[in-house]
Amino acid sequence: MSTAWSLYITVLTLGTLIALTWLLLSTRKGQRGDTTEETVGHAFDGIEEYDNPLPKWWFWLFIATLLFAVGYLVLYPGLGTWRGLLPGYSYLDNAARTEFATGGQGWTGVHEWEKEMARAEARYGPLFAKYASMPVAEVAKDPKALKMGGRLFASNCAVCHGSDAKGAYGFPNLTDDVWRWGGEPDTIKASIMNGRMGVMPGWAQVLGEQGVTDVSAFVLKELAGRPLPGDSKANVDNGRTLFATTCVACHGAQGKGTPMMGAPDLTRPEAFIYGSSFAQLQQTIRYGRKGEMPAQAQLQGDDRVHLLAAYVYSLSHPTPEASEQGQ
Ligand code: HEC
Ligand code: HEC
Repeated sequence: MSTAWSLYITVLTLGTLIALTWLLLSTRKGQRGDTTEETVGHAFDGIEEYDNPLPKWWFWLFIATLLFAVGYLVLYPGLGTWRGLLPGYSYLDNAARTEFATGGQGWTGVHEWEKEMARAEARYGPLFAKYASMPVAEVAKDPKALKMGGRLFASNCAVCHGSDAKGAYGFPNLTDDVWRWGGEPDTIKASIMNGRMGVMPGWAQVLGEQGVTDVSAFVLKELAGRPLPGDSKANVDNGRTLFATTCVACHGAQGKGTPMMGAPDLTRPEAFIYGSSFAQLQQTIRYGRKGEMPAQAQLQGDDRVHLLAAYVYSLSHPTPEASEQGQ
């Protein structure tokens, strides 16, 4: 804070306190000591005021708030360069101090936050380290780890994948056995750690409108195994040919997908994230799609991502040990 502001606030705060104390004491001086039926003599809209002293409880409450204010100003920093009498970070070791906290003693929000973090580190650090040294699939059987993972999921992942992890339009379901990038424990961890970017090109330019319709019809009828709308003018055989020339490179000859590129299995329409109706398929194939899973390495760090991976893995691999604890 600049000195000018600091001075302004100091003068304003202390000035107000002094003025209020003076006001309280000076108005009390001229007052009678007992209650009376007399009025002060003026009337407003027929309402008159008794000439009574301030109620005692009110007077003492006022004194108490003044004392509270003084005590607060003495204990906490705020006025000028005063640092307050409360201790600062003295019981944190040097390594835990940030550049903000090296300025000196005294209470600050930064010190409080650092204490919080140091406490959390002391409490969870060893636990995180223990789980980090175990394989993801093992951690996925530990009810305590799943509880921690579940909390991390709720605060970091539920916005996109849903609080039940069942996904939504554009966001994959993480509880089923269909994976875009692979469902092995370490692959799941890699998806979370480094993020993923699924890029499906648009085909309107290459295949033309009829081509898009035909290949969409082939995907819907032959791969996804769902009926075509009765009024569609699609040529499924032409669609099969187009698929073999344009789509197999990524989605595979049987349309079962290529996890290396995040190209999804087109024979599992229940797991399509952009919809499985004929109209939605045409939309996807005509314009392409670009799904992005944000990398968590920087945000969470390895230990937390390990717990998150275990939690996600457990959703499709529930174990009796973990479910006993209500997971
Ligand atoms: C360069 C590789 C590549 C090619 C070629 C390709 N795709 Fe894709 N496709 C992808 C990827 C990657 C995704 C996932 C996009 C995402 O996650 O946002 C995808 C997604 C899709 C989806 C959406 C599935 C869902 O979850 O909703 C459909 C349908 C699809 N492709 C059909 C096709 C068809 C039909 C062709 C051929 C005309 C084709 N793709 C060609 C890579 C490819
Ligand atoms: C901003 C939205 C968003 C957030 C937040 C997010 N994800 Fe994702 N996630 C996605 C999208 C979109 C995909 C699909 C990417 C693609 O198109 O291939 C995905 C894919 C995944 C996959 C791969 C799924 C598969 O089928 O292979 C996993 C695992 C995953 N997310 C876990 C998580 C976890 C754990 C978190 C929390 C730390 C998280 N995600 C947070 C959007 C998000």
